[in-house]
Amino acid sequence: MGQKVKTAVFPVAGRGTRFLPATKASPKEMLPVVDKPLIQYAVEEAIAAGATKLVFVTGASKRAIEDHFDTDPELEDALTQAGKDELLSSIQGIVPKGVSCIYIRQGKPLGLGHAVLCARPAVGHEPFFVHLADDLIAGEPGCLAQMADEHAAHGGSVVAVETVPRENTSSYGIVSVDADDRNRLTGIVEKPAPEDAPSNSAVVGRYLLTPEIFDKLENIGQGAGGEIQLTDGIADLLNEAAVYAYSFSGVRYDCGSKVGYLQATVAYGLSHEDTGDAFLEFLREVIRD
Ligand code: UTP
Repeated sequence: MGQKVKTAVFPVAGRGTRFLPATKASPKEMLPVVDKPLIQYAVEEAIAAGATKLVFVTGASKRAIEDHFDTDPELEDALTQAGKDELLSSIQGIVPKGVSCIYIRQGKPLGLGHAVLCARPAVGHEPFFVHLADDLIAGEPGCLAQMADEHAAHGGSVVAVETVPRENTSSYGIVSVDADDRNRLTGIVEKPAPEDAPSNSAVVGRYLLTPEIFDKLENIGQGAGGEIQLTDGIADLLNEAAVYAYSFSGVRYDCGSKVGYLQATVAYGLSHEDTGDAFLEFLREVIRD
């Protein structure tokens, strides 16, 4: 029913203030979890879901992201000469053949909705993913692949949701849904106070959007926090097109927050084949003390 999704948009133009000073000169999306930056996990998830066009909406201090996905002939030569074949293939395979990267500048961080709108010329008139790299989701298949299946089966836009403690609703977009109609959204509101929240079902950083969202984003003004909010665009969209809430399977780590980032590092460190055993031993010692 729904189309195959070939484009993924990565808004990476935010200021990352919660991670200062680490994010003063380098992007939050380049923070590593074990041995890969967050943005690489994001790209791998999108490619696994079928994306072949990767659109990065970048801003100030984000050059490292472009460099990361570019080739580095000097480093490749050095690794070749040193016979470090495994490391060589780990840097050569970051962007597989047939996948292209497009970089678009968001002049000012006017909000996530504005960042998505900046991607419009690169997306065209097709459904597309939006992936926020600081929400790291461990799941097999990946969250975007699950959402692509949902879209293929039923069409419409899809937003990933998770139940959060009611006291945290003011950190998220919160949805209300029609449970008798495949959890079709009936409302969405950005960062409501717990007493105003329509539910405790929160949107996390994965979206599959139909291109009608762009006209909505053109026309909304500033919303919560003075920013152009993707949530407000979706609130307009759901009046005339189906938007479904999708409860993904997997574990989400909010790597935009310090504690979430540390949790991700522990979880991925324990399951990584190079570090798992030694790290477990270390953690046991630390906890015993
Ligand atoms: P956040 O709300 O996490 O903001 O943005 P932030 O600036 O990245 O981080 P803090 O809150 O200051 O610590 C959600 C996502 O939207 C992107 C961010 O890069 C992040 O992936 N974003 C946000 C933009 O690309 N442009 C914007 O104008 C705002």
